[in-house]
This record gives sequence, C-alpha cells and structure tokens, in this order.
Amino acid sequence: MAAWAAQPTGIDELDRVLGGGLVPGSATLLGGEPGTGKSTLLLQALSSLARRGVRCLLASAEESKQQVRLRAERLGALDPALWLVSETSLPAILGALEQVSPRVAVVDSIQTVFDPELGSAPGSVGQVRECAHRLVRVAKERGVAVLLVGHVTKDGSLAGPRVLEHVVDTVLAFEGDRHHGLRMLRAHKHRFGPVGELGLFDMGEGGLQGVPDPSGLLLGDRRQGAAGSVVTPAMEGHRPLLVELQALVSPTKLAMPRRSAQGVDQGRMALVVAVLERQAGVSLAGADVYTSAVGGVRVSEPSADLALALALASAASGVPLPEDLVACGEVGLTGEVRHTGRLDRRLGEARRLGFKRAVVPASALDGPAGMELVRVPTLGSALSEFGVRLRR
Ligand code: TYD
Ligand code: MG
Repeated sequence: MAAWAAQPTGIDELDRVLGGGLVPGSATLLGGEPGTGKSTLLLQALSSLARRGVRCLLASAEESKQQVRLRAERLGALDPALWLVSETSLPAILGALEQVSPRVAVVDSIQTVFDPELGSAPGSVGQVRECAHRLVRVAKERGVAVLLVGHVTKDGSLAGPRVLEHVVDTVLAFEGDRHHGLRMLRAHKHRFGPVGELGLFDMGEGGLQGVPDPSGLLLGDRRQGAAGSVVTPAMEGHRPLLVELQALVSPTKLAMPRRSAQGVDQGRMALVVAVLERQAGVSLAGADVYTSAVGGVRVSEPSADLALALALASAASGVPLPEDLVACGEVGLTGEVRHTGRLDRRLGEARRLGFKRAVVPASALDGPAGMELVRVPTLGSALSEFGVRLRR
C-alpha cells in the first residue's frame, strides 16, 4: 500500500474525513446541494496543495475563468502551481490534464461536462456516466488524484448519476443548513480509509474555516433555563459532538397533529413520541410536536432518544431541565433506557464543556471526575427524576 501514500491537502478537516489525504490515482466524488460550498472547499484544498508545491488543475465547467480567478483572488488562493481552466467539453478537459500534468485535478461539476462525440444531451445520465468513466480512467492511468463535484438534489440523491458512486473510490457528502454557516463533510464510501468521520467547517467571508471546537460553537447561543431544550453528546465518527435538541409542543385542533423533525430522525422521533405516550404517561395526541437539532446538524443515533424524550416532556410540561445536564441513552419500545456505546468519550466531552450531570442508562459505568451520573432504568423514571412527567 506504500505506493498509495495519501497526500495531505493541508485542510485538516478534509484530511480527517479522507483518513489522511488524497491518494494518487484515486477518484473522489464530492456531492452536495448547490450553494453548500463545494467549489470553495476544493479551491481552498487545491490552493493549499499548490502552496506545498503540488501541481494542481481546477477545471471549471460552471464558471468562467474570470469568475474562478476572482474568487481565488478574493480567497488568496492564487498560486503558480494552481492551473485554472474553464471548459465544459470532455476532450478539452482531458487536453488540459495532458498539458498541465497535475498531481491533483478537480472537475467542477461533472454534470456540466459533456462529450460532443456522444449522442446524448449534456447533463443526461449517459453523458455524466461516460464522462466520469473517462476521467476516472485517466486518473488511474496517470496517477492523478481526481475530484469530481456532483450536485445533489433535495432528496439527497446525486442528480441523475447515482451510478457515479460505483465509478469512484470515494464519495464525500458536503452538507449544511443554508441559514447557518456550519458545513459538514462526511465520507459515505471510502476505499482508502474509514467512513463516518465528520469534518466541520464554518462558511464565512474568507471562505471555509475548519471548526476545531464544534461543541463549543454549537452550544454558543444556547438559551439558559428554557423548557424543551436538552443537550446530548452524540458521536460523529471518532469525535464526540455536543448537540442541543429542542422540542416545542403546541395544542392543536388539527385532526392529524403536526410532527416535524429538523435534523432529528423522523422514525426515532415517532418512536419516542409513542413511548412517551404509552409508557410514560405523557400525552401528545392533541398537540403539534416540533423537534430540532440546533445548528443545522443531523442526529440519527438511537443514543439521542433519551435527550429527545426529555426535551419533549420538558416542552409539554413547561418545566425546564437543569442547565448543566446532558442526556444519553437509547429508548426501547417498552420504555427501558438502553446501553449506549462510547459513553466515556461522550461524557468526557460534556464535562470539558462544563456539564456536571448526565442522565444515562442504569448499566452505565462511572463517568469522568466532576460529573454526577443519574442512572435511569426507564424513561418514566427519568421523567420523574426531573419533574417533567405529565399525568393524563
Ligand atoms: P460555492 O462554493 O459556490 O457552493 P457550491 O459550489 O456548492 O454551489 O459557495 C456557496 C456559497 O457560499 C455562496 O453562495 C456564497 C458563500 N460564500 C461565502 O459565504 N464566503 C466565501 O468566501 C465564499 C467563496 C462563498
Ligand atoms: Mg460550485
């Protein structure tokens, strides 16, 4: 594997997700909705590589050379080792690859590249697949690390070319809430390293900045003493991440009350609502229920169940939970609170950020120094413990 030594890009959060860096001859697809910052991320990565003397090519099929140059100038990304071209035709891009002979090349985006030799229309599945195949082949032949940008539609599929995921070695997804600066980078498929690592960036005036202390950033604007708010220590890859979960419960006359989940798994929320109703005596039948993970993050781990349930019960009862409390545990269908993996890492991070109490499953081992554990066998006992249990 030594021949495949990864080249760090120098963008720490990207290198973390890649498990070190870019592997020569590899093909990477970077997917994300328009406006997430894909072009910005890759421009910064190429610029960082170029500054280390790595020859790079940025082929933009979406923006003119002037536009790309202007942005690069604004971000201070221009470098003699970074070559910029603006081309939509595949032969022209292959020509540039030949001419520049880069170690790393970006094609932005694969959907706007087309081969005039092919009969099909630009942007069609056939075009996108064939162009990607050709670029990947060149990557392998010449030992170039190629990155393809792919636009993703709202439902999360790569527009048209889901097929591309099989063509490339690595699939990265770049996500973020349009209204927040926070951007999340994950590997969904990775031939050369782990999947599940999370890279976090903040999009600002000067482009994307890595976020070294995401928990601190996410909890920065937390309102103290509000009912319906609970913090849970989630795991993102190997990193713990403290996320505030919020719930709002509001009486409704709708025959089908609203159930809205933002950044929270819809299925987990339905389960938690049902268990609250059936096993813990919290009635939500006549109410609209909204839940959200603050900051545009997404929490889908079952270990967030307990925090979600406490947030809902707190919102329904109007009783706030202690500010220095975190909650972590999976809720089972019979109302039992179940074991959660990596509790030590999770609670360590919570303690670091000043939390002093944790509601955890009854089976939990001791927590870090200075952290009081409230062990709960069932959801009902957790609610009683904090006075957020409602009687029907
Ligand atoms: P962009 O990289 O063009 O997104 P994508 O290629 O995924 O479509 O950037 C998206 C948005 O980011 C753009 O609307 C403006 C914003 N932005 C900043 O806020 N700061 C910056 O320094 C840059 C370059 C962009
Ligand atoms: Mg773009």
